[in-house]
Amino acid sequence: MANPSLLILAGDGIGPEVMAEVKKIIGWFDAKRGIKFDVSEGLVGGCSYDAHGTPLTDETMAQAQEVDAVLLGAVGGPKYDVLDFSVKPERGLLRLRKEMDLFSNLRPAQCFDALADFSSLKKDVVAGLDIVIVRELTSGVYFGEPRGIFVEGNERVGINTQRYTESEIARVARSAFELARKRNNKVCSMEKANVMESGILWREVVQEIHDKEYPDVQLSHMYADAGAMQLCRWPKQFDVIVTDNLFGDLLSDMAAMLTGSLGMLPSASLGLPMENGRPKALYEPVHGSAPDIAGTGKANPIACVLSFAMALRYSFSMLDEATRVEKAVEKVLADGVRTADLMGPEGGVPVSTSQMGDAIVAALDASL
Ligand code: IPM
Ligand code: MG
Repeated sequence: MANPSLLILAGDGIGPEVMAEVKKIIGWFDAKRGIKFDVSEGLVGGCSYDAHGTPLTDETMAQAQEVDAVLLGAVGGPKYDVLDFSVKPERGLLRLRKEMDLFSNLRPAQCFDALADFSSLKKDVVAGLDIVIVRELTSGVYFGEPRGIFVEGNERVGINTQRYTESEIARVARSAFELARKRNNKVCSMEKANVMESGILWREVVQEIHDKEYPDVQLSHMYADAGAMQLCRWPKQFDVIVTDNLFGDLLSDMAAMLTGSLGMLPSASLGLPMENGRPKALYEPVHGSAPDIAGTGKANPIACVLSFAMALRYSFSMLDEATRVEKAVEKVLADGVRTADLMGPEGGVPVSTSQMGDAIVAALDASL
């Protein structure tokens, strides 16, 4: 049987640096566990624009459709701010999400014990936190038409459209209910049904899918603004949160800070099953390209490493190996290994990106 295939798109800024540490772990699986991946690499974002004048070439798009899973680093940087909107680095990522139809974006926010002191929130609020935000990723205001900047009378008007079909809401709701069944069986759906028709429909459809197909799962609804407040107040009340593309973008950044650092959060973007039964999938850290620290060795590779662990779990059903990677990360944190973003007020000497990767590999060795 062919080896599982991976396409690595490290992207811009700290993307290549954090991805280098994932490559060490892929190498470790080959050398120590006899698990081989067929790895190919390509460009996305600003680096693709520099090389080809587009943030994603058709060839790379086609490759992404072929492989079992895509691993992405990050896209964007100030150098590209001047580019036309249509070729900005982010368009490459959004094209991948849209054309691969990756409608279900899982963003876990888990607070490792060793980091409970690092959150800007009180320790007892975040210690032991383990929630997942399921963000709809291929529709809503990110993609709705009409959109653009138009001239109306003697001024310009900027337009984006929030648009959701029933089937788009239903499929992401199902993925949230399925996930909840494997966890603590609770889903909270967030929208703004008090001001948006798309929110009213969202709430109705989520409730219908629940009543017909998942009555065993505990379902609640919240307005997204109140949800943001509750996420800060007492995040442990949640298990799975399902929400739309834009609210999910905001709420997941906020949830990231509950865990101590944005450098800790992985994500999986999943679509429909391919012929081989694996879901179309792209894995990426929630953090961005952090151009301010790119090239300094300060980046935390953990979010990217944990994204690879999600690939092991969701694309390759290698549950034990996924857990092995997660435990290795937990161990290095418990041992006090810290990148710069994880330095508490008491200070200390941070390790570099690559030292953190080496420590994780050493912890993997110790797990054998
Ligand atoms: C994210 C990012 C992206 C988004 C950007 C880079 C297009 O913020 O994945 O959360 O807005 O979805
Ligand atoms: Mg975001």
